[in-house]
Amino acid sequence: MSVGSLSISGAEQVLRPDRHGRPYLRGDVAFRQTVQPGGLSVRDGVIAGVVHDPTCDVLVDASGCAVIPGFVDCHTHLPFVGWRAVEYEQKIAGVPYEQISRSGGGIASSAQALSEATDEQVLAQSVALAGEMAASGTTTFECKSGYGLSREGELRALELARALDSRVAQTTTSTALLAHAVPPLYSATDWMDEVETMMPEVVRHGSVSALDIFVESIAFSNADLTRMGALAASAGLALRCHVEQFGGLRSVPVALAAGARSVDHLSTLHSDDIPALADAECAAVLLPAAEFLGAEHRAPGRELVDAGAIVVLATDANPGTAPVFSVPLVIGLAIRLYRLTALEAVAAATLNAAWTLGLHGDRGSIEVGKRADLVVIDGSIEQIAYRFGHNPVLAAFVAGEPVFIRDDARARFQGL
Ligand code: NIG
Ligand code: FE
Repeated sequence: MSVGSLSISGAEQVLRPDRHGRPYLRGDVAFRQTVQPGGLSVRDGVIAGVVHDPTCDVLVDASGCAVIPGFVDCHTHLPFVGWRAVEYEQKIAGVPYEQISRSGGGIASSAQALSEATDEQVLAQSVALAGEMAASGTTTFECKSGYGLSREGELRALELARALDSRVAQTTTSTALLAHAVPPLYSATDWMDEVETMMPEVVRHGSVSALDIFVESIAFSNADLTRMGALAASAGLALRCHVEQFGGLRSVPVALAAGARSVDHLSTLHSDDIPALADAECAAVLLPAAEFLGAEHRAPGRELVDAGAIVVLATDANPGTAPVFSVPLVIGLAIRLYRLTALEAVAAATLNAAWTLGLHGDRGSIEVGKRADLVVIDGSIEQIAYRFGHNPVLAAFVAGEPVFIRDDARARFQGL
């Protein structure tokens, strides 16, 4: 569907940064965003003005609604196939993730499912999930490999990510999570040697923008993190890392020294590591759905915001620790569990998440000249968390094109 120009009018709230061109909204300035009634117009897929323009082809009545930037889900494990509901039952019964993982569950079981599935099966499930994400307001998301667990498997996962990108309404990015679990018959060091030899193939298509590693007692070490950082730097890719999820390995200083673009999870972050992280050009990506569903420790979200960190929220969408695809639900969890404000949480899931992916120049906030990735919600910004579990999304737009319109919102559209 191509709508030409579009104008949204009569919103109770339009959320914008306090000034043009901010790359991110650190915790100490997120509260300065402006929330005003009004509208905006879109031409050629780009935000053309922050006032209603009645000459546009399509007119959207946003009375009673808020207009916010499309959500950027910067930490997901798509594409994957299958589910692991049995593990969730084990967790509820008190079996720790590490134990599930050591007994063949966890990442290894999703790797097995991936190796047994056809490309079409993987893509069918992942495309359907991307549709759910669009209906929850996600207009950009990150893909990760990591369930390949072999040279061929990882390269296939990256290829599946490219195929997924061409089949979904959103824009995606691709992260090579080349060190997720130590593959059978390898030591961590031997596998890192293998990763090093894979790099020319990893970067060949130009689709991969970051490398990632899971640093944990059941996975890789801080020394492997340093090595992954060097590989990322020499390939010109960003370094992302899963750190401080369970073990408290004090990986954040190591990640910062390795030039990480983001440190993700942080559930066991040591309080002494907060100031350096808050001062760094490194995003603190918090994943409250994994923490909640796994009864994990809780990241110091409020403290990170107060210290001025680039705080980010994401789903961690994966078949194990977080089978969750809704950013509004994650915002609801984060506001309650970390005691964030609505403006802090929305900034964390939009502009700050876009910065994590290197996409802040053209999306993540409502600014003239940026891509018109927008969400219209059926109440105020504060209601996203307050009406916990309700999907507030009435309509979502990617580059000005509607990718989701809720049935009861169709009457608000004129000219479609
Ligand atoms: O981000 N922590 C490691 N990776 C994922 C979980 C992967 C899985 O359990 O399949 C995470 O939580
Ligand atoms: Fe993850």
